[in-house]
Amino acid sequence: MSKVHVFDHPLIQHKLSIMRDKNTGTKAFRELLDEIAMLMVYEVARDLPTEPVEIETPICKTTVQMLAGKPIGIIPILRAGLGMVDGITNLIPNAKIGHIGLYRDPQTLEPVEYYCKLPADAEQRELFVVDPMLATGGSASAAIRFIKQRGCHNIRLVNLIAAPEGVARIQKDHPDVNIYVAAMDEKLNEHGYIVPGLGDAGDRLFGTK
Ligand code: PRP
Ligand code: URA
Repeated sequence: MSKVHVFDHPLIQHKLSIMRDKNTGTKAFRELLDEIAMLMVYEVARDLPTEPVEIETPICKTTVQMLAGKPIGIIPILRAGLGMVDGITNLIPNAKIGHIGLYRDPQTLEPVEYYCKLPADAEQRELFVVDPMLATGGSASAAIRFIKQRGCHNIRLVNLIAAPEGVARIQKDHPDVNIYVAAMDEKLNEHGYIVPGLGDAGDRLFGTK
């Protein structure tokens, strides 16, 4: 069963509260998402393995700890996931970035992949799939399914806000994928929006409404 990690750090909560406010404009929204993504990835990366490496300081030779194990890949779900990439690459500059785009077929309501470009060695990487909102979980579940179909199996899901319905969907469809969120909200409304949420993340990020 996937574990859910909720980051209730005061700085994250404060910044997220400003993002939720409907009077917060696009510029501030974008900057805050960037900052929170950076703060979150610091915690998401907490269990990454390190290994001893010999170096020489100006004073003497010594053994230090450096990141080991699988290199990192970041996979934003288009569009809103793009808003989390810069914050994460500020902390993990060597990460490779893949993109996955989905739309919901109006007839079947099934998510359809319209774009996918992953790093060539994605299956050897630890992949962070990022999207600010986990609502029904349909988009994230499909994105993870498409990524797994390409042979990738070390996947973490990083969201700003999750609804219980979305978390349950990922736990059912992808029990191997741990979920990292800044907030667990109450529920979905009849339009599939998270309550209280922050509205449409893509529109607020890109100013399209
Ligand atoms: C939003 C959000 C997630 C999805 C969550 O994207 O960024 O990808 O909805 O909803 P779900 O959990 O019910 O699938 P949207 O489809 O609005 O596209 P956008 O990023 O282009 O705005
Ligand atoms: N997508 C969003 O952008 N916001 C929600 O609340 C739900 C889905």
